[in-house]
Amino acid sequence: MTTTGELRGKVAIVTGGSRGIGRSICLALAEAGAQVVVASRTENEVPPDSPFQKYASGTIGDTAQQIAEAGGEALPVACDVTKSEDLKSLAERTVKHFGRIDIVVSNAGVDCESPVVDLEEWLLDRALNVNIRGPILLCKYVLPEIIKQKGGGSIFCITSGASQTYREGRVGYSMSKAALDRAYLSLAEEVREHDIAVNVLSPGRVDTWMNRNGDWPGTAHIPMEQPDSIMKAATWLAAQKASTFTGQRVERAEFGETWGPGISVPAP
Ligand SMILES: NC(=O)c1ccc[n+]([C@@H]2O[C@H](COP(=O)([O-])OP(=O)(O)OC[C@H]3O[C@@H](n4cnc5c(N)ncnc54)[C@H](OP(=O)(O)O)[C@@H]3O)[C@@H](O)[C@H]2O)c1
Repeated sequence: MTTTGELRGKVAIVTGGSRGIGRSICLALAEAGAQVVVASRTENEVPPDSPFQKYASGTIGDTAQQIAEAGGEALPVACDVTKSEDLKSLAERTVKHFGRIDIVVSNAGVDCESPVVDLEEWLLDRALNVNIRGPILLCKYVLPEIIKQKGGGSIFCITSGASQTYREGRVGYSMSKAALDRAYLSLAEEVREHDIAVNVLSPGRVDTWMNRNGDWPGTAHIPMEQPDSIMKAATWLAAQKASTFTGQRVERAEFGETWGPGISVPAP
């Protein structure tokens, strides 16, 4: 792997690293020189006759292997973000293996597709657990280490356009992402004094397992991108500290135009 080097010496945790957008973020951070902890639930390959083989074939081991084959360093860690003991152990294993934590990407997410009148409670609970509770508890368990290191750091989450507008049949998903946005933007203020950046990145419409049907109502006008489209924006965000860029909700599609290298953005 020819690393660009901008993240050399840094250690990153990425949740939902087994496939889709999370896998691309893992590969991008490793390419920039970070040691990457690939965290999500899937350790074993899905059967070849799976209806979603094209998208759902990812495991944490695959992602780590891709990084290793390219000359980078990665550690796959099985982690269900709905389990606080898994999140605590994720932080502990990262420090034990790589000695520090500098970058945390809260990418793991699930949809919640159902009109409210038909909404099954388990579906709502799952979306709130994965999309909000997990990302906040993740911060609870990684922050003490990042603060202790006294060198700042970068935390960001992957949100959705659904956090800001109506999406038919996806009230539960929209509310979970809107809450996530607010939580991370508030956290940015809480940890600013430690020079830790906290930002919110919206990826656009991306061709992944979650979006496998490609027909979410109200999204046809948004161009469908491949997961790798996130790489440059994620790498740049990962290199930030509170003193350079924090408390912002940004669109991947606007990277390099309204935000990014050399562009000054008003403080929140
Ligand atoms: N695709 C889009 O168009 C789009 C648009 C806007 C926002 N997003 C957001 O982008 C993020 C990534 O989604 P994607 O499109 O790449 O979908 P995806 O292919 O379905 O990937 C979702 C990832 O989240 C992980 N995950 C799900 N539940 C988990 C749990 N309980 N614990 C740990 N990991 C869990 C999955 O890993 P395991 O199954 O191995 O656990 C997988 O790696 C999500 O937050 C999503 O809301 C996507």
